[in-house]
Amino acid sequence: MGFKLAVVGATGNVGREILTTLCERQFPADEVVVLASSASVGREVSFGEDDVLRVQALDTFDFKGVDIVLSSPGSKVSAVFAPRAAKAGAVVIDNTSCFRMEPDVPLVVPEVNPQAIAGYRKRGIIANPNCSTIQMVVALKPLHDVAQIKRVVVATYQSVSGAGRAAMDELFNQTRAVYVNDPIKPEHMTKQIAFNVIPHIDIFMDDGATKEEWKMAVETRKILDPDIAVSATCVRVPVFIGHAEAVNVEFERPITEDQARRALRNAPGVVVVDHRADEGYVTPAEAAGEDPVYVSRIRRDPSVPHGLSLWVVADNLRKGAALNAVQIAEILAAEHLGGKRRAAPPRLEAVRAK
Ligand SMILES: NC(=O)c1ccc[n+]([C@@H]2O[C@H](COP(=O)([O-])OP(=O)(O)OC[C@H]3O[C@@H](n4cnc5c(N)ncnc54)[C@H](OP(=O)(O)O)[C@@H]3O)[C@@H](O)[C@H]2O)c1
Repeated sequence: MGFKLAVVGATGNVGREILTTLCERQFPADEVVVLASSASVGREVSFGEDDVLRVQALDTFDFKGVDIVLSSPGSKVSAVFAPRAAKAGAVVIDNTSCFRMEPDVPLVVPEVNPQAIAGYRKRGIIANPNCSTIQMVVALKPLHDVAQIKRVVVATYQSVSGAGRAAMDELFNQTRAVYVNDPIKPEHMTKQIAFNVIPHIDIFMDDGATKEEWKMAVETRKILDPDIAVSATCVRVPVFIGHAEAVNVEFERPITEDQARRALRNAPGVVVVDHRADEGYVTPAEAAGEDPVYVSRIRRDPSVPHGLSLWVVADNLRKGAALNAVQIAEILAAEHLGGKRRAAPPRLEAVRAK
């Protein structure tokens, strides 16, 4: 027997990428059910090249018998459904910000703290970190192991797909409007995003930071090391897929560029592309659709005694969301939900749309 999976938010950006990733990595599933809001009931979503699954309503779905839920329906929806699914016996791997900072919910990036997955037993929930945090900690972990990170200053360049399907449509429509001289009316974004950049992601907090910036700081500490200070500025840019980050890292101990390059080259999930030439660094357009976290522009930061500057790029829908969640599911299945383990391609007769 393989596993029974449910994908919640299956019609969204992250949900569709989760389905693709499960298929590509041949997750040992016997059955995959796809759930979304009642407005999407009966819609079909692709599962790999040949299969199509029919969407069911999350509200009325009974999670009994489901082993693993991969979810991305937004925070408010997860707050209500995830405890219900966990109570029915499923383990929920949630992509929203709802449970990330709860002390009894593990927050996991498999390349950094896979051991934390065992903590799922307390609540039946595992949180997937914010997309910007994930790619940054994958790049920081090997450097932390070499020279112990004290402080990180990061500026992000985040694509609109990080804000969902509606934001992608908004960039497309505004770009067209600029060309045909139509008026621009921001709907999901706070300001014009076409041909512009917006230093405002998620809500403002009392100290003037945005919640996205706060998430990068507290999540990095929860995943990597509670003693690391993080100062983030998060910016939305007119890119469809792929987040970039300019990261300045200050270390306790000396570390050379070559030591950093070597550590990063040997690190799981990281690809170093770092030549001081026109083609010697990676941009979001090149990272879209790819699994690795790319690190480029590795150089000394001369403004502190032991410092490095890096350029970190990844596909926010893959490593920043779906791939990270599926990697967690793989470890959970293999190491914690044993007995149903079977490395076979999924069979989906039970749920395939007729
Ligand atoms: N995009 C990223 O890079 C990224 C990365 C990490 C985490 N996340 C988080 O993942 C979540 C989803 O992001 P997304 O980009 O996939 O958004 P999206 O494209 O807007 O998709 C939202 C999904 O949630 C479903 N949904 C909305 N309300 C629902 C309800 N009441 N009941 C059941 N399903 C409901 C939608 O279903 P309908 O089609 O039926 O409305 C859709 O499937 C957000 O919390 C986001 O912060 C996103």
